[in-house]
Amino acid sequence: MNTERIDQDAGHPEHVPGYVGSGEVLMRLDGVSKVFCTDELETHALSNVRLDVHAGEFVSIAGPSGSGKTTLLSILGLLDSLSAGTYALAGQSVSSIEASELPRIRNRQIGFIFQSFNLIGDLSVYDNVALPLTYRGLPAAERRQRVEAALERVGMSHRRKHFPNQLSGGQQQRVAVARAVVGDPPVLLADEPTGNLDSRNGDSVMELLSELHAGGATICMVTHNPDYTRYATRTVTMLDGQVVAEQAQTPRLAQ
Ligand SMILES: Nc1ncnc2c1ncn2[C@@H]1O[C@H](COP(=O)(O)OP(=O)(O)O)[C@@H](O)[C@H]1O
Ligand SMILES: [Mg+2]
Repeated sequence: MNTERIDQDAGHPEHVPGYVGSGEVLMRLDGVSKVFCTDELETHALSNVRLDVHAGEFVSIAGPSGSGKTTLLSILGLLDSLSAGTYALAGQSVSSIEASELPRIRNRQIGFIFQSFNLIGDLSVYDNVALPLTYRGLPAAERRQRVEAALERVGMSHRRKHFPNQLSGGQQQRVAVARAVVGDPPVLLADEPTGNLDSRNGDSVMELLSELHAGGATICMVTHNPDYTRYATRTVTMLDGQVVAEQAQTPRLAQ
């Protein structure tokens, strides 16, 4: 892959031609480490990671298996705690957030898209997409309108009554994208979202993510596919729990 050593300024999105972000730092990791301790083993999944993600960026994360990509997304998504360092989300240090508050903040700030879709098998497409809104106490009419709009956006309105096992992988991932965006979170985190899809379905999910980015979403996506890195405004390469290279670029836009 074409990467270069980290240069404090070169990686800054303001220097990217065509960059559409506001420049405000939305997520800031500083000196972040994550150690998993099991009976006999300490695994250093992340070591001293420093990363700023600005509002409106589309960051693509690459690196070999076991290099800490999923751990990084879990931390960004408030799904996992830090062993050391600091993480500020929208200016607020996450260590100052009460554990009981985390689900609410996660629900409002972050949409997740996983390689394995993670839809709930005994809920319909409609109910899967509605799920993030059920915690919010929205009036039924507004909830319905938001779910309809999200399904429309991913082209799955006609399958609203289907169940996940009645859909192709590509369709399931579209539903998962609808679920991630239905609450209109500022941040989308995607962990190898095309990893289980053939290239046609993978391409269409990437076009969808690119459209969401163009609409203002801030995206961090893990991918191994060099074709898909091109949609990003920046690529970050990880190795052994560290960010070893960053490269800003002009994204390819959705057709
Ligand atoms: N829950 C866990 N318990 C113990 N070790 C873990 C856990 N999650 C991840 N690891 C280890 O942390 C390292 C980084 O894992 P991960 O973030 O999943 O890497 P990647 O997504 O880049 O493949 C690996 O060595 C992995 O085995
Ligand atoms: Mg992973």
